[in-house]
Amino acid sequence: MRTLVKNILRRDEPAATIRAAGWVRTRRDSKAFSFIELNDGSCLRNLQVIVDAGIPGSNEIPGMQTGASIEVEGELVESPAKGQKWELRAQWVRLVGGVPEDYPLQKKGHSAEFLRSIPHLRARTNLFGAVFRTRSRMAYAVHRFFQERDFVHVHTPIITASDCEGAGEMFRVTTLPPERAAMEAEDFFGRRAFLTVSGQLEGETFACALSNIYTFGPTFRAENSNTSRHAAEFWMIEPEMAFCDLAGDMDLAEAMMKFLVTEALEHHQGDLDIFTRFVDKGLRERLEFVATRPFERVAYTDAVKLLRESGRKFEFPVEYGHHLQSEHERWLTEEHFKCPVTVFDYPKEIKPFYMHLNDDDRTVAAMDVLVPGIGEIIGGSQREARLDVLTENFTRHGIDPAAYDWYADLRRHGSVPHAGFGLGFERLLMFVTGVHNIRDVIPFARTPGHCGF
Ligand code: 4AD
Ligand code: MG
Repeated sequence: MRTLVKNILRRDEPAATIRAAGWVRTRRDSKAFSFIELNDGSCLRNLQVIVDAGIPGSNEIPGMQTGASIEVEGELVESPAKGQKWELRAQWVRLVGGVPEDYPLQKKGHSAEFLRSIPHLRARTNLFGAVFRTRSRMAYAVHRFFQERDFVHVHTPIITASDCEGAGEMFRVTTLPPERAAMEAEDFFGRRAFLTVSGQLEGETFACALSNIYTFGPTFRAENSNTSRHAAEFWMIEPEMAFCDLAGDMDLAEAMMKFLVTEALEHHQGDLDIFTRFVDKGLRERLEFVATRPFERVAYTDAVKLLRESGRKFEFPVEYGHHLQSEHERWLTEEHFKCPVTVFDYPKEIKPFYMHLNDDDRTVAAMDVLVPGIGEIIGGSQREARLDVLTENFTRHGIDPAAYDWYADLRRHGSVPHAGFGLGFERLLMFVTGVHNIRDVIPFARTPGHCGF
C-alpha cells in the first residue's frame, strides 16, 4: 500500500520499507545515483528520493522527467540534508506515466495568466495545490462551524423559478430550441426556469420549520462584471435563523468569520507559508488580527457621512441612496477602520424585496460585512416577517405576488422574525489565501466570455 507524502514526512520513526507515488518535481543525476523531488499533492512539501544506479527500475530514470508519475518503495532514513527530516532510499522505482518534452510546467514561476490557460494542470504547482487544499479544508470548517452550533444543512434547489435578488441576473434553463425560446408553456418545466442566484428563499422555509439551517452550494449570476471578485458560478454559504433579528445576524456573521480565519491559521501552516511568501506578505498578520479583534459596526448613513467627509476623490461620487462601490467599501475597511466592518441599515430603495423595513420607514435591516483586500464578503438581512409589509414590498419592487405566494404563506402561518446572510465562499478563500483574483480560487472558473471545458 502507498503512503501519502504528507504522512511519510510527519513520521516520528524511520521505516524499513515504505511506498510512495506521485509526480516528479525535479531530478538531479550523478554517476552513482539520482535525486528525485516527489510531490503527490497531499501537502506542499516534496519527498526526497534517492535512486541508486542499478536498483530495479533505475533503467527508467531517463523517463522520470519533471511531471512524470512514478511509484517508489524504499527505506525511510534520516536525511543528512538541511531543512528536511526524512529521505527515501529507493529499493525499486517504476515509471508510471512519462511526459513529452513540452510538459508545460517545466520551469518555476509561471504567470497566473498562463496557468489560468491550463486549469487541468495548474493544481500540480505549489501555489494552486495549496489553494485547493485550503478550499477543501475551509469547506469542511464551514460545515463544522454550523453543525457544532446545531444548524441543519439544507440542500436547496439549483434549478428554480424565482429571482431571489430581483436583479435579473439569472441564467435561463431550457430545452427549447432557440427559435421556440418564447414558448414557455412547452418548455421542460412548463414554465420559465433558471439557475439559482441564492438558496435563501427556500432556506427561509426550512428555518421556519427547523429553526436554524444553512445551505452551502453553487449559485449562478449572469452579471456582466468582469472584475477580479465576480464569477458567474460561485459557491455560497447561507445560514438562516428563526427568532432572530439583525443584531443576532451580525453576531453570527462575525463569529463565523473568526472561526473560519482561525481554522485557516491553525490547520494550514505549510500552505499559509506559501501564500505569505509568494502572494501577500501581510497575510498572516491580517488573519491574526481578524481572528482576535472585534469588528466595527457602522450604519449606512454614518458610513456615507464618513466617506463624504474623507476628503478622498473617489471615481464614483458618494451619495445617500446609492450603492456603496467597491472603492468606498475598501476605504472604510482598509483605510478608515482598518479592520472588518459591518455596515447596516441601508436605504430600502437599493435592497431586495425580502428585507425587514425599519421603523424609520426609509431603511431596511440589511447588513454587509466588508473586509480588507476584498470589500463585501457577506451580505444579509433580517427578513420581512409581516405579511402586509411584504405585500407592499412586492408592489414597490414590481413583483407579481402570485409568483411568491408560497413565500408569503410563511407570513400567514406562524410567522416569526428571522434573519440570515450569504457568504461568498470564493471571497472567503481570497481573504484567507491572499490570492487577488477569484479565478485563481476556483478549479474551473466561469466568467463572462470564459467557460473553458
Ligand atoms: O449580497 P448577495 O447578493 O446576497 C444574497 O444573495 C442573499 N440572498 C444572501 C442571504 O441573505 N442569504 O450575495 C452574498 C455574497 C456576497 O456578499 C459575495 O460575497 C458573494 O455572495 N457574491 C459573489 N461572489 C462571487 N461572484 C459573484 N458574482 C458574487 N455575487 C455575490
Ligand atoms: Mg450584496
